[in-house]
Amino acid sequence: MSYAIRDIAVIGDELARKGKKIYYLNIGDPVNPEVSDFKTPDYIIEALAKAAKKGYNMYGNSLGVQELREKIAIEENHRNGLSLVPDDILLTSGVSEAIFFVAAALIEEGDEVLVPGPVYPPYISYANFFGGKPVEYKLDETKDWQPDIDDFASKITKKTQFILLCSPNNPTGVLYNEQFIKEIGKLAADYNIPLVSDEIYDQILFEKYNSYKCHVSILKNDLPIIGMNGFSKAHLSTGWRLGYMYFHDPQGKMKQVKQSIEALARIRLCVNVPAQYAAIKTMEQPKEHTKIMVEKLWKRRDYCIKRLQEFDGISCVVPDGAFYLFPKLKFLDQKRGPWKDDKEFVLDLLKETGIMMVYGSGFGQYGVNHFRMTFLPPIEVLEEVFNLFGAFLKKRLS
Ligand SMILES: Cc1ncc(COP(=O)(O)O)c(C=O)c1O
Repeated sequence: MSYAIRDIAVIGDELARKGKKIYYLNIGDPVNPEVSDFKTPDYIIEALAKAAKKGYNMYGNSLGVQELREKIAIEENHRNGLSLVPDDILLTSGVSEAIFFVAAALIEEGDEVLVPGPVYPPYISYANFFGGKPVEYKLDETKDWQPDIDDFASKITKKTQFILLCSPNNPTGVLYNEQFIKEIGKLAADYNIPLVSDEIYDQILFEKYNSYKCHVSILKNDLPIIGMNGFSKAHLSTGWRLGYMYFHDPQGKMKQVKQSIEALARIRLCVNVPAQYAAIKTMEQPKEHTKIMVEKLWKRRDYCIKRLQEFDGISCVVPDGAFYLFPKLKFLDQKRGPWKDDKEFVLDLLKETGIMMVYGSGFGQYGVNHFRMTFLPPIEVLEEVFNLFGAFLKKRLS
């Protein structure tokens, strides 16, 4: 099992140990000081310390701290027009654990799951781990990475256990459009397949900030949906490992799945307890930190897009949200340059310049001949990166 995002870091770390300056554009961690200048807000850190001092250091309820479950239900209902109750919320160790739980509860040997391609690699790894077959539905770069509905429909089979949506998407940064969501909702209802919606970037949006509602509220039907979200990105606390899942299931079709997932949650005891108390505090505040982060990221995105336009062998769809760019290396298609594929390109770039990105093929067949970079660093750093990048391309392509 491989995970390109972290596998590339092994090589970068080795180079760093030998003294090379590394630009960490490979990993979506806004509070890693090697990556970015964002920080976990002080008041959240203080809330965590206060919870620990108050004595919340013992194991907690396996489903999560009740007050936090209540707050999450209210927020999801407000944001997405749902009618969740606290019992529909389960706290997890990040969205990562939620993906694991979903795969464990829904996949049996030989089952299929539909995931977007280019694909966030853990969707594939967990499906494989449980003996399932992940099938990628195509996000079409020529249509701004919108899902291709015909391709999607052709990949639904009797074995399809769930359909995974990730919007804003990693690695493309794109929001699925309303038409697709409606069509996918109709197909899912026709075939009685639950949707699993990874919404971890739903608070990190640019032009559509303030106007975006996630899939569920657009669908407005009784389709069972497992939503996944968390505190890592929007609340700048990746290392605290705090996420949650919600079960939107008006007709009780997923009762058994929910029970299996709750049983799994009991086996792993509980989620970080002081962090849950800090999260309660976060949810009581107006979330200024997210707003400030989005404003900065927006400028950084625009800067990167402008700089990428300098290179005629590269094209890039402008992301609506998250903090990733997924440019296409057109010169690889044209067989220009010394590299046989995107992985060789990314490794050569890393060794020569210290710029660490992730090769597109690490995101599956639809990621071939691309790379993924974050735009988390400040503009001064991005400027250095693009200057080095430009010089590298000039040298190699001339
Ligand atoms: C699409 C997506 N889902 C889930 C995760 C994992 O998030 P967490 O830190 O909540 O486990 C990430 C992290 O990069 C992600 O990009």
